[in-house]
Amino acid sequence: MKIPIDRQLSEPVYLQIRNGISHLIQAGGLKPGDRLPSIREMARATEVNKLTVIEAYSVLEADGLIHARQGAGYFINQTVMTPPRPTTFAPDQHVIIPEADGLDFQAVAAATLKADSEPDIIQFSSGFPQAIGVEDLQRIARRAIKTVADRLFVHNHPQGDPILREQISQLLVQLGLSATPDQILVTNGSMQALSLVTQHLVQPGDWVVVESPAFHGYLSLLNQVGARVIGIPMTAEGMNLELLEQYLQSHRPKLIYTISTLQNPTGITTSLAHRRRLVELAEQYDCWVIEDNAYEWLSFDATPPPIKALDTRDRVVYAGTFSKTLMPALRLGYAVITGDLYTAIVERKLLHDFHVSIVSQAIVREYLSTGHYRRRLNSLREINQQNRSAMLNALERHFPAEASWTVPKGGLFLWVQVPAAIDLEAVRQAALAQNVLVSPGAAFFPDRHGYPALRLSFAQSAEDIERGIAILGQLMTQFHRFSQSA
Ligand SMILES: Cc1ncc(COP(=O)(O)O)c(C=O)c1O
Repeated sequence: MKIPIDRQLSEPVYLQIRNGISHLIQAGGLKPGDRLPSIREMARATEVNKLTVIEAYSVLEADGLIHARQGAGYFINQTVMTPPRPTTFAPDQHVIIPEADGLDFQAVAAATLKADSEPDIIQFSSGFPQAIGVEDLQRIARRAIKTVADRLFVHNHPQGDPILREQISQLLVQLGLSATPDQILVTNGSMQALSLVTQHLVQPGDWVVVESPAFHGYLSLLNQVGARVIGIPMTAEGMNLELLEQYLQSHRPKLIYTISTLQNPTGITTSLAHRRRLVELAEQYDCWVIEDNAYEWLSFDATPPPIKALDTRDRVVYAGTFSKTLMPALRLGYAVITGDLYTAIVERKLLHDFHVSIVSQAIVREYLSTGHYRRRLNSLREINQQNRSAMLNALERHFPAEASWTVPKGGLFLWVQVPAAIDLEAVRQAALAQNVLVSPGAAFFPDRHGYPALRLSFAQSAEDIERGIAILGQLMTQFHRFSQSA
């Protein structure tokens, strides 16, 4: 078997091998039960070392495409030949300009919080990272507090701890984003960064462009600031750029809000070309951009540099967070802001809350300085990939044939389009009665309606995923029949 390897590509060699084999499986060149070349044979054929092949095979295993048999080698799984359902989006999608935001974000958050306190709930609704053991946490927190003991009884820098900002600056280089510590603002979660920047840039009545569907928390923020919203449909490649240009021309919006990597809720990552065009359009139509890449560090594959890295005119603000990689309760996010906007936003932050808790900052500093963070990211990606495969597998088996879903290459969510004949609200309520919580897709559309869909978090154990998806699938069949006969 010959897998072409191109060492000039930025894509690591093990991923090239994984992708080559995965394509062969999808194209039918490798069939269920076929044996893959041994690690030694593959290493020889592709002229790489054996460790690289082992890495490629373990990713394929985590993808649910192959399995190892003790002493016999690696084999193609039986289930992968079900043709993957296409990543489709409702064909009748249109631009959404809502009259008013009818959804109470508080109510959604309260329902999730209530469900979180139920002991046996299967939580497909929110996506949080796996817990860290209490002993590890205590050790890190003890060391962290020691490093800032003399600063606990005074106020600290509103921009954030200088060492932490230096560390974030170094971290961002790995994404291809170069930002000096003076361009980084540490915030109370990335939500605060979104909030401070939007409140500063957007006046009541201003037009703001969002992806449709989009992160529901940001839609509520726009409602709060009195913005008028234009929802540009998402395609499998990201926001529809032709429609974006039309609306930039006709409505002259102040701001575009986008998630370029692992979009919430669809899980889509845009290409470099898409990012380039978006920033060109923003410059051409004199528009700000907020790039909110909360899930960026959870990508399984290498991703293109953020839009902020392509921004030469200080038009783009980048927001990131440790909520999805360490823990949300630290409330630690950050923004990259260049040009004059930086000082204006720091002043706003000062008026809001002076600065982020120095204890939270010290804990993150400790993670970043010890290599714990790198290990944590590796382990999260591995677990998430296994859980995503478990969910894809379960969806194939339990969901109606007319349903389709995205196959995100990371993050915590996938987006399922559901046939219109299913009464989704009835499914949601009946699922909750059986301790399965899901986010209705409607919450992610600017008009809080959109097309019938669900956002499912795969940050669950494989057993819970199997059980929860089976319950949802069974309810969909039940409420499908009902809505057809009604
Ligand atoms: C896309 C996106 N942005 C921002 C946030 C806010 O994260 P935090 O304020 O915890 O950093 C979330 C949380 O769910 C999110 O999904």
